[in-house]
Amino acid sequence: MKVASGLVIAIDGTSGSGKSTLAKLTATSLSLAYLDTGAMYRCVGLKALEEALDLTDHDKLIEMARGLEIQVGDRVSVDGVDVTSEIRTPQVSQAASVVATVAGVREEMVSRQRSWIEANGPCVVEGRDIGSVVWPDAQLKVFLDASSEVRAKRRADQLGTHQEITGDELRARDLRDQGRRTSPLEKTADSVVIDTSQMALEDTLKRVITYLKERQLIELDQDQPDDESIDQPTQSTLTSLEGKRAKVEYRPPTKGSLVFFSVCRAIAVTICRIYCRVSVEGRKNLPESGPYIIAPVHRSYVDWIVLGLLTRRRIRFMAKDTLWSSRFIGWLLGALGTFPVHRASADRSALTMCVSILKEGEPCVLFPEGQRMTGPNVARVFDGASYVAAKAQVPIVPVGIGGSERVMQKGKILPRPYKVHIIVGTPIAPPANGKTGKVSRKAVKESSLVVQDSIQKLFDRAQRKVGL
Ligand code: DC
Repeated sequence: MKVASGLVIAIDGTSGSGKSTLAKLTATSLSLAYLDTGAMYRCVGLKALEEALDLTDHDKLIEMARGLEIQVGDRVSVDGVDVTSEIRTPQVSQAASVVATVAGVREEMVSRQRSWIEANGPCVVEGRDIGSVVWPDAQLKVFLDASSEVRAKRRADQLGTHQEITGDELRARDLRDQGRRTSPLEKTADSVVIDTSQMALEDTLKRVITYLKERQLIELDQDQPDDESIDQPTQSTLTSLEGKRAKVEYRPPTKGSLVFFSVCRAIAVTICRIYCRVSVEGRKNLPESGPYIIAPVHRSYVDWIVLGLLTRRRIRFMAKDTLWSSRFIGWLLGALGTFPVHRASADRSALTMCVSILKEGEPCVLFPEGQRMTGPNVARVFDGASYVAAKAQVPIVPVGIGGSERVMQKGKILPRPYKVHIIVGTPIAPPANGKTGKVSRKAVKESSLVVQDSIQKLFDRAQRKVGL
């Protein structure tokens, strides 16, 4: 894909209109840099609270803001201290909204934002005044809005709070953002306005991509068709499921294997409950019977075990085939119903195995990120889970697991006794197949975006729940 040099996409809009999700997805989809300017005001708000500053003392606020060293990226830090989760509390949201009305604070932040854009090249910048003040020359200005009911619901879902509380708070913030004298929230005449009240995220992203293509700001590669039916997964579809070509065949569970699984599960779950004080939220979202795909975020080997807390049923996993090099581990994994996947080349048999498992009525886990990742951001998800869901026509249950990376990071052997919180999200319907019954690549891609958005939100909430 080619991108116009110096491309700046400004995404402004009201709170809860979906700006952040859209901006992040646009940046990831097009491999552009991304700046969340709201996080900068949040840092100032947080510091003002920490230093117990009088929020009406503008001189003090401006002086403090000028002296802060703020880093906004995958993680957010102020004066070298990581504040990624601290800046997302309702108290900081309030304070940020207040400090953002102070002209001197805004001047300081706007000047830093301009320097960031100059230094980072093609980018997506998200905020309230990007198209109007920070970068009026942005080649694409998007203004997002949604009804206050929808916005309040989205915020409540994000925060895990009751809708009315966040609705009131949100309306107050809107009024402050629109009413301030310096750079109020406003749509510029050259913005494209998108009302996301009734729009799915993937449709909003498609609109943005269409605007970019129409304005010749991006040029997609020939091998990125917009719409095409696929019967067999392609290399890119399978990247997360790359694997061994050795045949893995479905065998119905025997009584003995089910008992063995139950005993191992009971032992592992008991240890986890005590050691990591694992809590589960939203368990009712898991279908009581029938097949489904569990699609969790993946930060640690511990994820495999804690997922056993979701259901007493046997859930099937894939594991990298190198684990089978130890006879004992290979036997144990096989006895538990786990099957191998190779990670160096496309492995269709592993995918076919997933489809068979689901068609036989068993639930199966597919980590959409493909492997263990690190950090608070969900990596670009691969299409494997959505492809398999389409093939077997089963729902995908998104799951956020907070705190497992702190328990056992990549490269560590011993788990540490930190808390883990799991949130089970609302099931996502399988992608619709084409008229001929073939899997539609377009529907699979769209479904992957929904999965990505959903597990990121659940992960954020779960991490906050364990104080991260
Ligand atoms: O987008 P957000 O909710 O993280 O933003 C936090 C606060 O900062 C919010 O009250 C709006 C304000 N803000 C602003 O005034 N200008 C920006 N460019 C970004 C955010």
